[in-house]
Amino acid sequence: MRVHSAAAVIVAGVAWASAPATAHAASPTYNQDVGSILLENCASCHRPNQVAPMPLLSYQDARPWARAIKAKVASREMPPWFADPSYGTFSNDISLTDDEIAMIVEWVDAGAPEGDGVSPEAPRFSDAGWSHPSGAEPDYVIEFPIAWEVPADGETPNFNLYTPLPFDDVLRVSATQVRPGNYAATHHITTGLVNMPPGKVLGTGPAWAGGPLVDYVPVTDPALDADALTASAAPARSAGTALDPEALEEAAAQRAGFGPYIPGVGADVAGPGQAREIRGDLFDYVIWNLHYQATGKPEIARPSIGAWLATEERTQRVRSLGLREATSEGRQLVAPAPMTAEERAIAGPSQVGQGLNPTLDPIPPHEGNWTVTGIGAFQNDAVIQSLFVHAHVRGKDFTWLLTYPDGREEVLLRVPNYDFDWQFEYELAEPLRVPAGSTVKSIARYDNSRNNRRNPAPQKEVYWSEQSWDDMYLTNVRYTIADETSSEN
Ligand code: HEC
Repeated sequence: MRVHSAAAVIVAGVAWASAPATAHAASPTYNQDVGSILLENCASCHRPNQVAPMPLLSYQDARPWARAIKAKVASREMPPWFADPSYGTFSNDISLTDDEIAMIVEWVDAGAPEGDGVSPEAPRFSDAGWSHPSGAEPDYVIEFPIAWEVPADGETPNFNLYTPLPFDDVLRVSATQVRPGNYAATHHITTGLVNMPPGKVLGTGPAWAGGPLVDYVPVTDPALDADALTASAAPARSAGTALDPEALEEAAAQRAGFGPYIPGVGADVAGPGQAREIRGDLFDYVIWNLHYQATGKPEIARPSIGAWLATEERTQRVRSLGLREATSEGRQLVAPAPMTAEERAIAGPSQVGQGLNPTLDPIPPHEGNWTVTGIGAFQNDAVIQSLFVHAHVRGKDFTWLLTYPDGREEVLLRVPNYDFDWQFEYELAEPLRVPAGSTVKSIARYDNSRNNRRNPAPQKEVYWSEQSWDDMYLTNVRYTIADETSSEN
């Protein structure tokens, strides 16, 4: 024993004396240092059948990419994360620390050595693609009824299909996930809960204007005559001005449905003791907003929805407050294009809350700083859980401000370089309790100028729509009501 530790002291002494000459030997290695960083922070996307172009699960995987890895982590392009670190702390923040970045850079500069010892083991991922952190398979699965064929090239517009919601009571869920079925060919999927637009039934029709014929689209109810159709469309026409605030709120909350599929984001898991409600009692259909992308070869995509049921006896309901741009001062909004008669007829609950008010302005041509402010207010003491922002390619930056009833202000989140390709729910590491009467504002700026490299048409007025060449303002905050528990389950 004594001999052993004496020897160790001597070895350390030698290393110390010759430090400059052995700097290379002291550089980080894959097995000792870098491998675990890559597995923890990159493998969720960089593995087979996931969104990233190459796996990073082993030394053999990572070695050929060493220079690219250095460039992407040093510039903070990878892992993708967009919150300004000066504001807020988020539990799903996947960005690397300065020390981790320095370690990776040093490793690459030293020739990306493998090092001694065994390589760190890659985590196990569910073969089925479900990503609940417990490893559990979902309790409830809704398969999309058709396998969609994505052509090898060309652009497929965003489109909506409707499938019947297979239950008519309230499903209390602790987690949900939308699995794309084909990661490479899927840009994103959002789901929502809706009812059939007035005068419509589920049938066979074009997936989008001029698109292929498919099942699961709303078609005019053949049982309706022309007069009945006009009458049934009338309420939708005045929706933007006449809807009562509670209906708007519920619609905004339910728009989320089972949530989205967003690249790199897995199951959406509620906190301990929390549940979300999927209101089968209010809605009859799931709307699937599908955005596919060509990969160079024909692809088949069949998404599905998984839900994990809330099992705890007493669960706290997580609610969603959509920030209404209609409450902005002035006229700075992303306005919807004027609707045609046919569009008015099919404008259903899914469009509610999107600003159907015809007096609003679109984003003007060449405008570099179009500002949209949405506001929401908490009527009860509330606990803010997470924040979400969504715009398309003209989205430039977002700032979330909290104003306490005494006028104090706090920046909850700042996204200085919004990127349409990456949509994160920003989950507060410490859920924030705010008193009744607090308000939240989400201020978005849009760049419709030529300086925006992704802008497809700076000369055009930009209206609201789901299509990525139009734009949207969709921001909401998930919260619980402080001290509220529900005993039903
Ligand atoms: C949330 C998903 C996600 C995570 C996490 C992620 N990546 Fe990526 N990565 C992607 C996607 C998607 C691409 C391809 C598109 C792009 O470049 O934006 C990519 C591209 C790259 C590229 C460029 C590949 C090329 O073709 O040139 C490198 C290098 C890279 N990632 C390294 C990393 C490293 C290192 C980490 C962890 C420290 C990481 N990524 C974490 C999704 C991710």
